[in-house]
Parts: sequence; structure tokens; C-alpha cells
Amino acid sequence: MNNFDFQNPTKILFGKGQIATLSKEIPENAKVLMLYGGGSIKTNGIYNQVKTALANFKVLEFGGIPANPEYAVLMDALKVIKSENITFLLAVGGGSVIDGTKFLSAAAVYKGEDPWNILKNSERTMKGMPFGSVLTLPATGSEMNSSAVITRRETKEKLAMGGPGLFPVFSILDPEVVQSIPEKQIANGLADAFTHVMEQYLTYPVGGMLQDRFSESILQTLIEVAPKIMKNPADYNAAANFMWSCTMALNGLIQKGVPSDWATHMMGHELTALFGIDHARTLAIIAPSHYTYNFENKKEKLAQYAERVWGVTEGTLDEKAKAGIEKTKAFYNSLGIKTSLSEYTKDYEGTAEIISKRFTDRGWKGLGERQDVTPSDVEKIVMMAY
Ligand code: NZQ
Ligand code: ZN
Repeated sequence: MNNFDFQNPTKILFGKGQIATLSKEIPENAKVLMLYGGGSIKTNGIYNQVKTALANFKVLEFGGIPANPEYAVLMDALKVIKSENITFLLAVGGGSVIDGTKFLSAAAVYKGEDPWNILKNSERTMKGMPFGSVLTLPATGSEMNSSAVITRRETKEKLAMGGPGLFPVFSILDPEVVQSIPEKQIANGLADAFTHVMEQYLTYPVGGMLQDRFSESILQTLIEVAPKIMKNPADYNAAANFMWSCTMALNGLIQKGVPSDWATHMMGHELTALFGIDHARTLAIIAPSHYTYNFENKKEKLAQYAERVWGVTEGTLDEKAKAGIEKTKAFYNSLGIKTSLSEYTKDYEGTAEIISKRFTDRGWKGLGERQDVTPSDVEKIVMMAY
């Protein structure tokens, strides 16, 4: 097992009715900016719950943060933060609103000239403006980690940022919010969380026995809960297990002491930037090709995964490993998620070359757990995903 440091300062308030406890978590004299998305919180009752809980605070609002949080919109929010002397940010939403809030937390205290540099130059934030979140969509784990991904439509870019100063101070996880989520977004959440685990598990063995079993247990829980929550998002116990699995998939714990990959995400982000495909769906497009292309490097863990997570006991190591890839594809399909790029766009020709060139231009020499997935490999993987 590799050496590691682990510190996660986010306080989690989990369960029914927890939104009402918001006022205890925000500093007494705070001037709060409440940030939200396109308005789902106004129709599902979450907005009212938050406003009631914050009745004794000075609260301004900024709505309209779109899915794949857009830089230009966030820059408008930054103006409000500065002109109104905001001291605390509250994200009420899914990964997009929470990620947008993380960017604002960093940008609000940024000393450099242009906040875009935080993304362009991957400048880490050691201390941002404090913020909390009320999670409305289980998927990304953003509610308990310190990274964000921001989109800039103008240049068709989608870049990641982060730093130890960007953990939420607290996050409220009330599984009752799941009942209003459309089926498509629930499928996205399941696929995203599933792939987060795979990024940190499907690498090569280093003897991280507990980490492997943490990962396998999250995958198995997602597999078990998927049909239940897809059928009935008001099933509280299924929603609770879905929500906690998503958080645990990307709060740093399972990654400690083991290698991690993230190549699927890096390629997937480009598909969102180029075509606007939902984040989780881009992962389902890339992952099977990535595992197939890098089969030799990943086959031991693939076979372990097939055996322990899917119960594949027959066959050689290679056969089990191949079955692992097929099971993964079938899982995405069972959520109604298609796994070929051509099923999402007719303009896919040339995509592999564009993405490969972007990686070269950014100086990214090698992705993946061994950092040996070169831009030329990326081109082949994306092409396999057509
Ligand atoms: O905007 P509103 O009206 O709120 O509607 C949202 C949005 O349209 C809707 N929604 C959210 N909660 C709802 C709901 N509808 C009904 N009832 C509710 N309770 O769902 C839609 C999608 O929301 P979004 O926040 O975009 O989804 P998600 O949580 O999947 O976030 C995706 C973003 O997170 C990034 C992705 O790249 C993408 O930009 N990621 C962030 C990560 C991180 N910070 O660690 C890691 C991930 O790998 C990912 O890259
Ligand atoms: Zn993801």
C-alpha cells in the first residue's frame, strides 16, 4: 500500500429534515449569497425549506447557474459577491451549483489578475471564501471534496480546479430531495458515482485490501440500489443508500494509498465541452474503450472486479477481465445510457484528433495510473468509442 495523508474537513448532516438545521451551521453575522441552478428547487420545495431555515440571516440570491457551470454566469455572481460584501456562500443544487460555488469561493479571494487563470493554470486554492451546500442531486461527490469543473462556452473548454481550501464547511444530505429528480438525472448520478469508484479502483494491485473492499462495496451498493431508485425515486431507503454511495465514491477516502486513473474523466470532459453531452454519459462512452485499449495494464484488477463485484467465477484471468468490461457496459445500458459517441452526435468524425491535439497543446504527456496514456493513445481510445 502506498503512503498517504488524509484530511477531509467537511461536516455532513445526513437524513430527513436536516435542511432545517442550516441556521446552526452558518456563522451568526454572515452575509449569505445563496446560489442555485435553473429553478428546480422552486418547484420541489427545497427553496422554501432553505429560506425558512435562513429566516434570521441576511441572504441574497443568485439563480441560473446552468448544468456544466458556465464561467460567464459565474463572473456575474462574482460581481454580486464583491459589490455586496458577501461573507458566506451557500450552494443549493447538484454538482454544477456546488462546483460553481467552489469557483466563486476561490475567485472571491483571488489576488491574481484574471480568475480564469485559476482554471487555465490549475492554481490551487489554499483558503477560499467559506461555503456550505445543500445537495439536491447525488452524483458527483462535490459536496464532500475540494475539486470543481468549470465550463467556458466561448472557447468550448471544460477545466478542473481545486485545492485544500475548497472543501465545503458543511453539506446537508437529505435523501428526500431525490424524489423530484428526473429519471435521466438519476441514471447520470448512478453512472457518474460508479465511474468515480472505477477511476480509483480499476488500476493495478498494490495490496490495498481495505481500499479495494471499500470500492467493491460502493459498486455493489450502487448496482443493488439502481433498479429500485430508477423505478421509484421516492423509495427513501434506496435514495439514502444511493446518496451516501455517491458521496463516499469521491470524498477522497477510497483513493488513499492506491493509484488512481482519471483518464476516462479527462477524455469525457472534452466530449462535454465539444458536444454538451451530460458528464456521466461521456464516461459511459469512454470507459469501455479505455479499459479495452489498456487491457494488459488493467486486467488483474478487471478480473478481480468481475469476480468480486459481478460474481464471474468461470474462465481464465483474461476471460474474467473481459467479462468485467462487458458487465460495465451492460450496467450503463441498464440505466438507459448509450455507450457509443455516434449514438449522441452525427458529427463525431475528427473528434479523436481534436481531443488528442488539445491534450498535446496543454502539455499533457501521459494520463492514467501509470501516466502512460499518451495523446496518441487518447486518439485511438476516443476513436474506439465512436
Ligand atoms: O438547474 P436545476 O433547475 O436545479 O436542475 C438540475 C439540472 O438541470 C437538475 N436537478 C438537480 N437537483 C434536482 C434536479 N431536478 C429535480 N429535482 C432535484 N432535486 O438536474 C440537472 C443536472 O444538475 P447538475 O448539477 O448539472 O448535475 P450533476 O450533479 O451531475 O453535476 C454535473 C457537473 O459536476 C461535474 C461535472 O463535470 C458537471 O459539470 N463534476 C464534478 C465533480 C467534482 N466536483 O468532484 C466530479 C465529477 O466527476 C464531475 O466532473
Ligand atoms: Zn464524474
